Amino acid sequence: MSNRQPLVAANWKMNGSRESVAALLDGFRQGLPADGVDVLVCAPSIYIPLAADELAGSNIGLGAQTVSEYANGAYTGEISADMLKDYGCRYVIIGHSERRHIFAETNETVANKFCHAREQGLEVILCLGERLEEREAGMTEQVLSEQLEAVIARAGIAAFDGAVIAYEPVWAIGTGLTATPEQAQAAHSFIRLQVARHDDRIADELRILYGGSVKADNAAGLFAMADVDGGLIGGASLKVDDFLAICRAAG
Ligand code: 13P
Repeated sequence: MSNRQPLVAANWKMNGSRESVAALLDGFRQGLPADGVDVLVCAPSIYIPLAADELAGSNIGLGAQTVSEYANGAYTGEISADMLKDYGCRYVIIGHSERRHIFAETNETVANKFCHAREQGLEVILCLGERLEEREAGMTEQVLSEQLEAVIARAGIAAFDGAVIAYEPVWAIGTGLTATPEQAQAAHSFIRLQVARHDDRIADELRILYGGSVKADNAAGLFAMADVDGGLIGGASLKVDDFLAICRAAG
């Protein structure tokens, strides 16, 4: 049985101001449980330097919400893995459903970004998740498998050693409709089995987070499931007390 330390990651999405970033991080630093849970904040890129300063000396990790699939060069508007690392940013979310569905990132783009980020030494949180119509059509496992296998085919299974996956059913994101603990567990155990078909040890050590309307009052039930190793938190990570309660539920 592997000993996966829970991870709770805040995904602030496109929210915040200099003032609110400083206030939130101050609140997180002061209220976080000392151990038993890893905590990470994925800030909007422009606030990463500020967040890095605010988090200096704390054990809260810093992440970005996306990264370019390219190395430094003529790519107007992009931010590279090198630039993130330059500001002490160790993690990056790849393939969030908002990137896939609003910004048209394909499985191929997601795989390219995953590969590039791993080659550059960033820790990656790869998001997978089905839409409501796909779940209703009984296609959840097919969608998860296609999203996952596209990345494994491109990056190789060894690139998942130490990586993190987030299962985020699209119908649960920002809707207040949380997956039940049993629905989350079913998807997580399916994802772990898919990875185990390539490598048992990597699957056993892989942290799989649940994301989608996690709140202070439903977190403990989700985190109690065997294959749920923490959460990727949107709306509730913009409130100090709510986020801290979710971190405590994981620890
Ligand atoms: P909400 O917690 O706001 O539903 O967002 C989840 C999410 O997309 C985290 O990446």
